[in-house]
Amino acid sequence: MILLTGATGTIGGALARRLAADGIPFRALVRRGSVAIPGAEVIVGDLDDPATLPEAFADVDQFFLNTAGPYPDERPVITQQLAAIDAAVAAGAEHIVKVSAVGARTGGPMPFGTHAKIEAYLADSGLAGTVLRPNTVMQNLVRAITRFTPEGDLFEAFGGKIAYVDARDVADCAYAVLTGSAPRGGAHDLTGPGALTAAELAAALSAGLDREIGLVQPAVDELEPILADQGMPESYIKHFVELTRLVTAGALADVTTAVTDLTGNSPRSIEAFIAEHRDQLRGSPARSFWA
Ligand SMILES: NC(=O)c1ccc[n+]([C@@H]2O[C@H](COP(=O)([O-])OP(=O)(O)OC[C@H]3O[C@@H](n4cnc5c(N)ncnc54)[C@H](OP(=O)(O)O)[C@@H]3O)[C@@H](O)[C@H]2O)c1
Repeated sequence: MILLTGATGTIGGALARRLAADGIPFRALVRRGSVAIPGAEVIVGDLDDPATLPEAFADVDQFFLNTAGPYPDERPVITQQLAAIDAAVAAGAEHIVKVSAVGARTGGPMPFGTHAKIEAYLADSGLAGTVLRPNTVMQNLVRAITRFTPEGDLFEAFGGKIAYVDARDVADCAYAVLTGSAPRGGAHDLTGPGALTAAELAAALSAGLDREIGLVQPAVDELEPILADQGMPESYIKHFVELTRLVTAGALADVTTAVTDLTGNSPRSIEAFIAEHRDQLRGSPARSFWA
């Protein structure tokens, strides 16, 4: 049996839809019993409450591990994912596919350092693991993670190129590994077919949405008070500033062939994503900042 966490989320939801479409049996651990996951055996449980996990993990051979990102605090995410790994070990599972992040490295800012800690725990767990490290997902554009000013311009502190990947391609990689068409193991940096600066992203949005979208890009040294004004929690600001320095220096710029290597298909492009989500992107140009 394959168990999914995060099946109500962006990446896990796409994976659940693929498994269901192909009639592959799977189980989904969800926090709310009212949630429907087509094709899944749904079990209510909460990674914050380890006592609820054994039922979900019974008879599980493979496990897809994903939860929310570590904003504004990494501790809940680490506790949840370590509890899930422990439950998988206790249940005798063979293999985990863990969603991490491009740039994961010990001592790095959130989320890089967060995922590195979980990857290290997984490596020591005795379970076979496949680590998928997505670059920034394109879906951030339509779910209020990418920021726009009240005028509808792109607010992007990161100065370097970013090799955006479609969350559906991340899910397709997980699908390939879980269903055996791609080999288990390794850590894979997942990207789209190209990398863009924020100015290039603003130009792609302008072209795709038929309106001029400007770019607001503060210098890294000016960032702290701007983020504080926007309501970003104090505890997160130092991580975000460090992240900005790393991304501006190119931490997310490398384009890889991992999606094609694992799935056999070319990754989706940002232009195709913008065209497909044109109505959503045109309908909500102004979003609030971090609050
Ligand atoms: N966004 C990016 O650009 C990006 C890039 C690289 C890596 N990542 C990584 O990708 C992950 C986020 O993936 P996503 O965007 O697909 O997530 P998401 O859409 O935010 O979904 C999070 C999922 O985790 C579930 N969850 C949260 N807390 C839980 C708990 N205590 N018990 C059980 N389930 C719980 C949520 O369930 P509910 O429906 O109950 O809330 C939901 O299904 C993070 O680790 C992030 O660091 C993100």
